[in-house]
Amino acid sequence: MNSYIMSSPAFNLKKIVVVFIIFLCSGNVFGQADTTHKLDRKWWKEAVVYQIYPRSFKDNNGDGIGDLKGIISKLDYIKSLGVDVVWLNPIYSSPNDDNGYDVSDYRNIMSDFGTMGDFNVMLKGLHDRGIKLVMDLVVNHSSDEHEWFKQSRSSRTNPYREYYHWWNAENGKPPYRYSLFDVNHDAWRYDTLTNAYYLHYFSRKQPDLNWENPKVRQEVINIMKFWADKGIDGFRMDAFQYAAKDTTFPAFPQGFEKNFTQYYGMVTGLHGYLQQINKEVLSKYNVMTVAEGAGNTYEDAHNMVDADRHELNMAYAFDGVNIAKSSGYSLLEFKQVFSKWDSVFADKGWLSIFLANHDQARLVSRYGNDSPEFREISSKMLSTFLMTMRGTPYYYNGDELGMSNPGFTKIEDYRDVSLLNEYHHQLNIGGSIPDFLKEAQFSSRDNSRTPFQWDSSTNAGFTTGTPWIKVNANYKTINVATEEKDKNSCLNYFRKLTKLRKENLVLVYGKYTLLDKDNPKVYAYTRELDGKKMLIVLNFTNTIAEVKTGYDLSTAKLILSNYEGSGSDKGKLLPYQAIIYQLQ
Ligand code: NOJ
Repeated sequence: MNSYIMSSPAFNLKKIVVVFIIFLCSGNVFGQADTTHKLDRKWWKEAVVYQIYPRSFKDNNGDGIGDLKGIISKLDYIKSLGVDVVWLNPIYSSPNDDNGYDVSDYRNIMSDFGTMGDFNVMLKGLHDRGIKLVMDLVVNHSSDEHEWFKQSRSSRTNPYREYYHWWNAENGKPPYRYSLFDVNHDAWRYDTLTNAYYLHYFSRKQPDLNWENPKVRQEVINIMKFWADKGIDGFRMDAFQYAAKDTTFPAFPQGFEKNFTQYYGMVTGLHGYLQQINKEVLSKYNVMTVAEGAGNTYEDAHNMVDADRHELNMAYAFDGVNIAKSSGYSLLEFKQVFSKWDSVFADKGWLSIFLANHDQARLVSRYGNDSPEFREISSKMLSTFLMTMRGTPYYYNGDELGMSNPGFTKIEDYRDVSLLNEYHHQLNIGGSIPDFLKEAQFSSRDNSRTPFQWDSSTNAGFTTGTPWIKVNANYKTINVATEEKDKNSCLNYFRKLTKLRKENLVLVYGKYTLLDKDNPKVYAYTRELDGKKMLIVLNFTNTIAEVKTGYDLSTAKLILSNYEGSGSDKGKLLPYQAIIYQLQ
């Protein structure tokens, strides 16, 4: 076709008619969503994030603590999982009050973990394998051993004084603020040196930074540039929803301790700080960002990640992960929470999908069934859920093996500062220690921090030394070496799932529709994109369950099931059965 014809009025008229017909067929006029033209493809939306807890992943030097060289030695394993991004918990210099979430030097590596040289090798090793690296950025607070705090507490006139929040004691005791980790739950700590109290929402060794001070924001921006210039691919912003504060410090209402986010989260100013970070750092690099927590309302969460507002990329909401209690949980509530969150981001913004991390007990022990009979099958079912929802999956190391809670019975087994401080709190107030230990066995953060299980040798092949926290006694059967040999293992099933997600854009971007909504045992939904439709059915119970999807399953194509080769017999699902069908 020559250029004249292309630009002739007759041709343009034909073009307009064709475009109009395409528009009519696109379904918009009829109210059906055709997402093709709306797909805003991004690498971080299509990624599967694998979270590594460095202290517990692999020890290379025999000191009982995981390290960067240990991670380097396992890069091929990480690659074999089919994940795209590693999120590494903090590895910066730290006195380790809260396992690295108390940073004393943001530009250095914790000596337990190795050196900056090791870091460079690890980063290159990941990149060589096509895997990106997201680092934790812990800037709601620093360590009390950070130089800024040392200066700040040294005198009231020190230039760093305003880097933290201080309350002069001559003004009386500051109004009550709740601390999550403090033995007395008191967020104000009196410091004799300058006769003043400093604020710490977490432990006493984690003083909160004063984000209202522009100098603090500039420091953080410089730190972010330092790491982005080193070539990292993103930041997970720890506890960031609490960074902005009402510096008049109104008293925290007693009785709302469990609901502290309502009072501490997303205080006025936070969006502005995020926009500043975006403008000065994030917009200049190809990095992804996720803030821990998503505020108090769907609107908060949405605003934080609405691309037009230039703040962060994706929300990481806790509602889903908060459902499981030691007394159990309701699947109806679970479905309702995930469906609601999906709807909030259906058109704009993006969500993280997760059910576990280093702050939660093990996935299979909380949401599945860790009895010998059902551990494997329920673990696969939960992985199926995580890999087939809309949003970016965050998958915690060890869950691919079906690692479970270790069942600690003694306080001496625990290492977590929040748990140990709470234990002392309970002792102080005369609480029931047996009840406390029972609850800890189900929900403690240390449940997910036990050493990664590599093989059946001593200490699960994690270390040749004494591990910093006990290895789960089940390591002889649940470990990488054993699962590598079994084609039906949790590990190999997880690999199938990551491959499937990679090969099916519908699982990333496809519209989510909940089916059989009131079914208390089965979670069923479809994912749909550009004429392709997948159906996912998940039995969340240990008994046979029925599901009514409204689809004729006899003609549906079975894509994957956690019971090998087995579809659902007329809508009946075996215990913890998970099936993915292709409908179109
Ligand atoms: C959230 C982190 O995930 C957790 O591990 C840490 O203890 C607190 N923030 C304080 O940094």
